[in-house]
Amino acid sequence: MIKVSQLCKTYGVSNNPVRVLRDVTLEIGVGERIGIVGSSGAGKTTLMHILGALDRPTSGGVTVDGRDIFSMTAAQMDSFRNREIGFVFQFNQLLPEFSALENVMMPALIARLAGSEARSRATQLLDEVGLLHRLEHKPGQLSGGEQQRVAIARALVMQPRFLLADEPTGNLDSGTSDAIYNLFQRLHASRDLTMLIVTHSDRLASRLDRVVKMEDGCIVGV
Ligand SMILES: Nc1ncnc2c1ncn2[C@@H]1O[C@H](COP(=O)(O)OP(=O)(O)OP(=O)(O)O)[C@@H](O)[C@H]1O
Ligand SMILES: [Mg+2]
Repeated sequence: MIKVSQLCKTYGVSNNPVRVLRDVTLEIGVGERIGIVGSSGAGKTTLMHILGALDRPTSGGVTVDGRDIFSMTAAQMDSFRNREIGFVFQFNQLLPEFSALENVMMPALIARLAGSEARSRATQLLDEVGLLHRLEHKPGQLSGGEQQRVAIARALVMQPRFLLADEPTGNLDSGTSDAIYNLFQRLHASRDLTMLIVTHSDRLASRLDRVVKMEDGCIVGV
């Protein structure tokens, strides 16, 4: 279970503090699928980055099964990020010089898994997301929806407990977006995954267990 307590994030821009998160408090149960909605600039990406230990809060905390993630040592935090969190970024951040297969293998190779294990996990995941016929394609040779499926496969290669996806269907048409959400449902059903998915679409969010609405750095509706 994830507990987010009174999270605040303030950026200083030319001596003017910009309060991006204000007292965000949230509990996320094991296996829960939560949609995060809210207008542009509401703080959704900032919250996701903090939950994924990619950024630190100004105050407040996040505990995962009682462990405060921001009091971990740098090495513990790296390992937490690599092994327990799968992150699908708002702009998918696949490595353009590498094939789909290599992109998915990358987190496993960074975690020093054997190459054969990394390859077999990555191949199986790409099969699961319907891309077995695109293993050798580079991101530039894939459609937007295919690239997002590669990014989802990459996020899952370390078999994380948490999948954080920041607008995974932001640039996709509604049919392709639905297909990605069907994929999320299948992945959720076959693993013990807790999912947080940012979306601008109320329709897609309503397919999840619970919707959290953010406005101006605050949670305004759960
Ligand atoms: N590094 C930074 N320095 C200063 N301000 C920042 C920084 N990062 C984000 N902000 C500001 O914080 C606010 C929230 O940004 P964030 O990216 O979390 O919004 P968002 O809800 O994800 O928006 P979108 O739907 O457009 O992706 C924005 O007003 C943004 O300008
Ligand atoms: Mg964002």
